[in-house]
Parts: sequence; structure tokens; C-alpha cells
Amino acid sequence: MERKWDYYPLKKEFLREEDPEVFRISQLEDKRIKEGIELIASENYVSPAVLEAMSTSFTNKYAEGVPGKRYYPGNQFIDEIESLAIERVKKIFQAEHANVQPLSGCPANMAVYFGLLNLGDTVLAQALDQGGHLSHGSPVSFSGKWYNFVHYHTNEQGWIDMDEVEELAKKHRPKIILAGFSAYSRNLDWKRFREIADEVGAIAMADIAHIAGLIAGKQLANPVPIFDVVTTTTHKTLRGPRGAVIMCKEKYAKKIDKAVFPGIQGGPHEHIIAAKAVAFGENLTEGFQRYAKRIIENARALAAGLMNRGFKIITGGTDNHCMLVDLRPKGITGKAAQDALEKAGIYANKNLIPYDPQKPMITSGIRLGTPAVTTRGMKPSDMEKIADFIDRVVQNIENEEKIKEIREEVRGFASSFPIFSWE
Ligand SMILES: Cc1ncc(COP(=O)(O)O)c(C=O)c1O
Repeated sequence: MERKWDYYPLKKEFLREEDPEVFRISQLEDKRIKEGIELIASENYVSPAVLEAMSTSFTNKYAEGVPGKRYYPGNQFIDEIESLAIERVKKIFQAEHANVQPLSGCPANMAVYFGLLNLGDTVLAQALDQGGHLSHGSPVSFSGKWYNFVHYHTNEQGWIDMDEVEELAKKHRPKIILAGFSAYSRNLDWKRFREIADEVGAIAMADIAHIAGLIAGKQLANPVPIFDVVTTTTHKTLRGPRGAVIMCKEKYAKKIDKAVFPGIQGGPHEHIIAAKAVAFGENLTEGFQRYAKRIIENARALAAGLMNRGFKIITGGTDNHCMLVDLRPKGITGKAAQDALEKAGIYANKNLIPYDPQKPMITSGIRLGTPAVTTRGMKPSDMEKIADFIDRVVQNIENEEKIKEIREEVRGFASSFPIFSWE
């Protein structure tokens, strides 16, 4: 069944009356979404049902503990909703155990480290300036301050070097080997990661935040059955509310649950857990599989459209929802591109490319992703149009008038799509 919503069908009638100021700002954000092209690879638009679930009365309840074992009374329906979310996510990923309480991706990773490591223990993870995430050992994050992270790298072309992963694992004997990224466009070799972890007696951990929806939609291989512990955010390709999940083998279940609460969190956000349940229900449908397939088709079409216009894509293409564009051949920085694109109503973040000569606040690249534009119902032919907009912005980066003209074209193009489309 095809369903489309031009705008989110939320009435906001109480908000309008009681707090016109918040109502006004929220209306402007709705308009910004409608009139823009969202290419930030970690963003997406939730369905109206997910949005409604977030505004249910589950927000009112304190429910420390897990279903059936709470510290406060009155949790009959909370238990039911949280159990439903757990059952659904276990089914999607064939997980032995799931904790749906982590408030977001960083706290989920923090809970895993807190539950399975001692301070100062060694973790092997992807280099942060080559696609890894801050919570994978950045010196400015708790992870890098409290644990001894060692990082593996990509080669000059941008592909992860699995031989280096093996070498570093043998040399440093990490307690956890972490596979997962925020900016990498190629498939990970889950089996090889598992084999290396087994060889050195490490826990195999994956952070699938970016690609969870592509795995749920059966387009990419699922590491959950063969890994010890897997974290994911729920708000990226999974298209749920902001939040996260930890899945693990039964033998780590107690440690993980205790690390989430009372280890690092207090009361879970049960209205968000209700919305996670709704999103997981959507993830289990055939419509979601079509959506996941289309995300990848769109990403490939966008990469091809850009390469045809002389852009350099790291690794020469993509297997997933995202890509890194090396802007050096165009003679501009990631920051300049991000700023000019934003003026044109196109949202994409500056991103370091492998062995980037620029600083992280400037960068030589931008990261582009297709989850959000695919939710709006855009197809590969629309990616051609978007590649053309990006090319024209880059060509006219210093020409304010021209960028204003492109902004109007982008507004017209983007407004012609619904905010959420379900085929
Ligand atoms: C791989 C990965 N892990 C964790 C996170 C952190 O998630 P959050 O921003 O919800 O804390 C992100 C966010 O972008 C991510 O890409």
C-alpha cells in the first residue's frame, strides 16, 4: 500500500495555543525539512506512527530495571511495550539478547565498555580520521580517556586493510575488537573480524549504527549471529526515534543489562522505547526491504552522477547508503562545500578523507548519504538532479547570486516530494 504525507500530520493544537513561540519555531523546522535536500548520512525522517508513539503517555513513567523487575510500581504496560520492542528487535537481527534502553549511540557504546572492560583495557577499532566514530577511542571522548584504543586504518584508496587489523590484534591482544564506522562506503568482512577476534581471544563487537537499516532490510550481511555484542543507533537507516540498542550473546546479557542500569543510566525513556517498537515493526515489513534496497540504488546513482561530473568518490563507489567525496580535484575544501551547499538548501557534512592534509574543522571531503531522500520517495533519476545541483553549487561557490538561484530551484524540487513516503 502506498502512503504519503506531504507534511507530518501532527495537529500541534495545544502547542499552538499554549506556547506559540515553540510552535512557531517547530513550524519553521518543518518547512526547512520540506524545502531542503537532506544528504547527511546519519539522518532520516521517521514515520508519522513513530512520531506519534514518541508523544504517548509512556513519557511520564519511571521504570528503572528491566521488564518484570522494576524498582517502581505501575509498570504493567511499560513492561508490555518494552518486551514488544525487545522481541521485535531480536527477530530482526536474530539476536539472543537485546537491551532497548540506551539513550543514544554513545551511551550504548559506553555501556558495553563499562560492562565488559576494566579501565585502561585495550580496544582495537577503526581510525577516527578514516571513518571511525568519536566513541571508538577519540582522545576527546570518555572512550579515549578511559580505555587504551589502538586503531586500524584504510589504505590510500580508502579500503580497510584487514591484514593490518590482524597484525595489530596479534601485537596488542585487545580485549575487544570493534568493527563499525560513521563514514565508510564498503562492506565489512564480518567473518574475518570474527576469525581475528577468535585468534587473539578478543570479544567481537560491532557498531552497526549507520547500516542497521540496510541489514534489517536484508540488503547487507548481518553480524549479530556471529558477533558477541552489537550496538546500533535507532535513528539512522533504521528510521526510528533517537536512541540505541545493544544486542549480545546470552552469556553477556547480565553484564550488559547491569552496565546500562544502574551502570550508566537511570530511568529509561519509555515513550522512545514505544517508538522503537513501532520502528522495529516497520523494519520487519517487505516495504522496508524495498526502502533499504532503494537507499543503496540511490547512493549508487548519486555516486555515478557525481563521478560523471568529475567528482572523485573515495573507493570509486559505494556498497551502502553513503559515500565520501574527495574535493581536492575541484580545488575546494569540505567546509567551503558544506557552507555553500547549505545556502542552496542542500545539507551534507564536511568529512575527513583518508590521509587528509586538512584539519578536521576544514577537511578535504564531504560525506553524502541517501536514507533521508529515499524516505521522501526520491528515485535514482532524482539523484541525477541532485548531483547536478551539487555540481552547480561547487562551480559557482563564490557567486552568491547564482547560489540564490539554485536555492530557489532546490526549494521547488524538494517541495514536490512528500515528507514521508511508504511504498
Ligand atoms: C558508528 C556510530 N556509533 C555511535 C554513534 C553515536 O550515536 P549518538 O549520536 O546517538 O550518540 C554514531 C553517530 O553518528 C555513529 O555513527
